[in-house]
Amino acid sequence: MLVPSTRLDVAVRRASVNDMDAVYEVASSVGNAVKDPSLGFLVYDYTRDPDAHKRRLLRSCAECSHFYVAELNRKVCGFLIGWLRDEWVSRYPEWFGQVTWRPGFKMDPGDDFFMVDVIAVHARLTGRGVGTALHKRMIADLAREGIRRILSESVIGPIPNVTSMMFRTRMGFELVGIRYEDEGGVLYTNAVYSKINPLVPPETSARGRHS
Ligand SMILES: CC(C)(COP(=O)(O)OP(=O)(O)OC[C@H]1O[C@@H](n2cnc3c(N)ncnc32)[C@H](O)[C@@H]1OP(=O)(O)O)[C@@H](O)C(=O)NCCC(=O)NCCS
Repeated sequence: MLVPSTRLDVAVRRASVNDMDAVYEVASSVGNAVKDPSLGFLVYDYTRDPDAHKRRLLRSCAECSHFYVAELNRKVCGFLIGWLRDEWVSRYPEWFGQVTWRPGFKMDPGDDFFMVDVIAVHARLTGRGVGTALHKRMIADLAREGIRRILSESVIGPIPNVTSMMFRTRMGFELVGIRYEDEGGVLYTNAVYSKINPLVPPETSARGRHS
């Protein structure tokens, strides 16, 4: 980061439906028409049809096993939405077919993994440790569930989300693939990242235990 700033002492907890208005505020602060690589951005423009986006967030909150919010002075300032393998594949059956894996990296659709779908921190608080706090809480919970492989994505084109790419790398993700996606008539290129949960030894992978 170019500008040093103090880390914030945030509390991370599971989200509830009552948080969704505050989550929407965070989402729309970085998910709008401005795609600023130095702040990071979300692909969706949450300021267009806010009611539809709020309904979508409410649905995710009801369906998602891992939806977290970060709070600063009891005010939501960031959130993370992630899905277990089966949840992800049923929501997004075409996802695997869209990925071109890096040579030497092998991943089968049946392998266990967790997908970080969205992580967002309020635009006023970028770079102050909120994303790291959300990531740490997710890692700890996934460790308790025995989930080793964690996937995530960053947009690299048409505008590279440099903040997201730096964040993934800093959190220990490595580039394992590329995925193209048509969203609202725009062709996005995504870097696909993978990370092995450092808190889970190989033999305790949840799916591995049963196979
Ligand atoms: C990407 C995001 C979640 C990171 O969370 P954050 O709270 O800003 O990040 P942290 O303060 O915890 O920083 C962790 C690392 O991220 C990277 N990072 C954070 N902000 C950055 C910035 N503005 N520019 C470059 N790298 C940055 C750094 O590597 C940093 O490590 P360091 O503090 O040792 O330098 C957040 O900036 C965000 O929500 N951006 C908008 C939405 C988005 O892009 N989401 C990701 C795609 S779904």
